[in-house]
Amino acid sequence: MALSLLNMTNNLVLNQLAQYLPSSEAKRIFHGRGGLFEGWEQVNIEVYPPVVWVIIYQKIDESKLYDLLEQVSEQADQWGIENIYLQRRFMSGNPVEVFFGDESMLEVDFQVVEQGLKYWVNLGKNQNSGLFLDMCEGRRWVREISGNKSVLNLFSYTCSLGINAAAGGAQSVVNVDMAKAAIKRGQQNLSINELGSSRVSFIAQDIFKMVKKINQKGPYDLLIADPPSFQSKAFDVRRDYMKLLEKFKGALAKNALLMLCLNSPALGEAFLKELVAEVLPEAKLVERLSNPEVLADSSEDASLKVLIFKMESNE
Ligand SMILES: C[S@@+](CC[C@H](N)C(=O)[O-])C[C@H]1O[C@@H](n2cnc3c(N)ncnc32)[C@H](O)[C@@H]1O
Repeated sequence: MALSLLNMTNNLVLNQLAQYLPSSEAKRIFHGRGGLFEGWEQVNIEVYPPVVWVIIYQKIDESKLYDLLEQVSEQADQWGIENIYLQRRFMSGNPVEVFFGDESMLEVDFQVVEQGLKYWVNLGKNQNSGLFLDMCEGRRWVREISGNKSVLNLFSYTCSLGINAAAGGAQSVVNVDMAKAAIKRGQQNLSINELGSSRVSFIAQDIFKMVKKINQKGPYDLLIADPPSFQSKAFDVRRDYMKLLEKFKGALAKNALLMLCLNSPALGEAFLKELVAEVLPEAKLVERLSNPEVLADSSEDASLKVLIFKMESNE
C-alpha cells in the first residue's frame, strides 16, 4: 500500500514535469502542502526554468524524494533542467542543497516568465523567490479587469499584481509594501516589462503609517489586499484585517472592486465574509477565484482564498 502510494506520487510529479517541460514559464508543479498525497505533505516543487526548486517544510524521511529527484535528473537534458535545488525551510537560515547541477543559479538574479510577463527572481538569497507562484490566477484576474481602473495594491511585495494591473491597462497603480528591497524589485519588474512608469507609483512604508497619503491618491476602482497571515509587529490577520478595511474604505470609488486574499489555513472564507459584512455592508461577494488545479487541497477552506467583492451603491 505504502509503496503503491509512493509510486503514484512519483508518477504524478514525473507526468506533470513531462507535460510541462521544456518551458520558459515559472510554475508550481506539485503542492504536497495541500495534503492530498500521503507522506508528501511537507514538499512543494516549483519550476523556475532552468531550475527545479524543491521546498521541504518539515523534517521528513527524504529517501522517497531523493528517488523521485534521481528520476527527474535522468530527464534533465530532455526537459531543459540545469539544476535541482532543495530548500529546507525547517532549518535555520533555510539552507539550500544542490541536488543536481551546480551552484550557478543560486543567489543570483534571473528572469522568469509567467503568462507573458517577466519577473526577476532569486533562489536561495531569501526564503522567498520574489514571485509567489500560487497567486498566478490572481495575477490573471487582475490583468483581465484592470483596464482604465485606478488600482491600489496593498502588501505588494515585488508588485506582481501591480505589474499585471499596469499590463491590463490600468489608469494608475499604487503599490505599497514596507520591504524596501521588495519595492525596488517591483520597480525593476515594471521596467523589464516596458510598461511605462508614469502610471505606476511605489510607496516603501508601513501601510498603517501612510493611510492619509495612500487615501489622497484615490479614489480607487480596485483595492487589492494580500497581507501575510502573521508578520511580527507588522500585520496579524486576526488583529489587523478589519482595521485595514476601516482605514481604506473611504478611498474606494463608487462600484469599486475589492480583491481580498487570505492565506492562513486556520481561517476560512467565512472570516473574510464576516469582516466585510461588518465594515463594508454595501459590498457584495462576486466570486472566489479558483486556485490553479495543481493547488488542490484536502480542505477548500484551508487553501489560498482570494475573494472578490463589489461595492454596490443604492442609486
Ligand atoms: C504575502 S506577501 C504579498 C505578496 C504579493 N501580493 C504578491 O502578489 O507577490 C506580504 C507582504 O506584506 C508586506 N507587509 C506586511 N505587513 C506590512 C505592513 N504593515 N505595511 C506594509 N507592508 C507590509 C511584507 O513586506 C510582504 O512583502
